[in-house]
Amino acid sequence: MTVNTPLCFRGKSILAPMVRVGTLPMRLLALDYGADIVYCEELIDIKMLQCKRVVNEVLETVDFVAPNERVVFRTCERERHCVVFQMGSADAERALAVAKLVESDVAGIDINMGCPKEYSTKGGMGAALLSDPDKIESILTTLVKGICKPVTCKIRILPSVEDTVNLVKRIEKTGIAAIAVHGRKKEERPQHPVHCDVIKAISEAVSIPVIANGGSHDFIREYMDIETFQKATAASSVMIARAAMWNPSIFRKEGLFPLRKVMQDYIKYAVRYDNHYTNTKYCLCQMLREQLETTQGKKLHAAQSTQEICEVFEMADFYEETTTIFTAKKTSLETKIQDEDDQMEDPDVIKMAVRFDKREYPPQITPKMYLLEWCRKEKHPQPIYETVQRPLDRLFCSVVTVAEQKYKSTLWDKSKKLAEQAAAIVCLRTLGVPEGKLCEGENPLIAKRKREDRECSNNRDHGDDLAEPSHKKANFIEGASDMNVPEMPR
Ligand SMILES: Cc1cc2nc3c(=O)[nH]c(=O)nc-3n(C[C@H](O)[C@H](O)[C@H](O)COP(=O)(O)O)c2cc1C
Repeated sequence: MTVNTPLCFRGKSILAPMVRVGTLPMRLLALDYGADIVYCEELIDIKMLQCKRVVNEVLETVDFVAPNERVVFRTCERERHCVVFQMGSADAERALAVAKLVESDVAGIDINMGCPKEYSTKGGMGAALLSDPDKIESILTTLVKGICKPVTCKIRILPSVEDTVNLVKRIEKTGIAAIAVHGRKKEERPQHPVHCDVIKAISEAVSIPVIANGGSHDFIREYMDIETFQKATAASSVMIARAAMWNPSIFRKEGLFPLRKVMQDYIKYAVRYDNHYTNTKYCLCQMLREQLETTQGKKLHAAQSTQEICEVFEMADFYEETTTIFTAKKTSLETKIQDEDDQMEDPDVIKMAVRFDKREYPPQITPKMYLLEWCRKEKHPQPIYETVQRPLDRLFCSVVTVAEQKYKSTLWDKSKKLAEQAAAIVCLRTLGVPEGKLCEGENPLIAKRKREDRECSNNRDHGDDLAEPSHKKANFIEGASDMNVPEMPR
């Protein structure tokens, strides 16, 4: 049974949000080494809103996948009760929509109000919010009211202590669960001293937990220093960024592990969770720091895949074993799904194992166009395509309904368009109607097009610019069916 205790922010060591660094392997490693709470890298609301939630049964993760199929946020059960999702937002409604999208997979939601980078501030996000308390209030209040998980925010300090304390008091009233304070002003760089006194003044002025941040440069070299920083700031908890990026075993009570072991542990998670190799490489380079010029550093820099990264760290066998397990798991899941599909099969659907291969058709001629033409000729309503996407491998299958009969291909395709063409082929073949293939010889649709093009150009010669050849209309109908594809129910 899973216990659903709300996240507590007192007496905790926390992995700070870090763009590119705070992806799943780093978060899990920090947890293994002793971190209590982990923040993900900042993800922008607009980008998240384009994502689809996909359960990845092979990796046993939940993925938020962008339309270009890139995984924007990957999480898993192990961190569900301690991962805080950090978001960049300047809009309460968008922030709420993203929070609702991820709420069931994370332990809390955080709004980044400290990023001084132009890409954040020019959209009114990050540190730009610090000069717009009304906006802060509206985003946080909307989130606190709209979701069940704790809401936090992460700020930088303002030019005066008094203004900072007043702002935090106002923020506290929104009902948030805790506030992380990076003890630097927005113009200050990471090497500037951290203002422990300001964090302390905030800790003493409010009753919500204050999470002190900014100690990596001046304070935190090993585990014991976390407590020193906490005492210096009178904060409830400590959040660590760079010291953890350089060596995440900073969270280990027993002391730091040697970097080589840490990097190998990191790589294990990167392989296990199929982390993109560029991200893995980036994080390992941050750990290597001044050793980047060593032979190992140069080899890492040259690596062009996860496999090559593993080879640099003498982990080729681990890579081999893990990927073999995944391949076997994927095959077995596919077989299971195929069996389930077969059992659930609708006997009224006519099926064939066909795929659409563009090379077999003249340019711009497709089975869908042929089917549409046939329906028009036979005075049937136009074909209706319904497509589902399989979560496991994200392949598509389409069913076309023509004259109240359904047709589909038993082969799954890489895109919705290909799946629709395959369904159209099944229908045309069943009906014994030409499908437009090059090998069919005399091509009535092309002949029809030529005729229409001729008529069209004659019309144009007569000044009738509005005439549109019917093949354009057919193309338009194909495109218009490109609506959102529902996921197959599981
Ligand atoms: C590589 C890197 C990426 C960062 N990305 C984020 C981010 O996504 N969100 C955020 O609030 N702060 C981000 N920060 C700031 C850190 O969370 C933290 O506030 C800052 O580094 C000070 O803490 P430290 O002294 O422990 O490093 C980033 C810092 C680094 C070094």
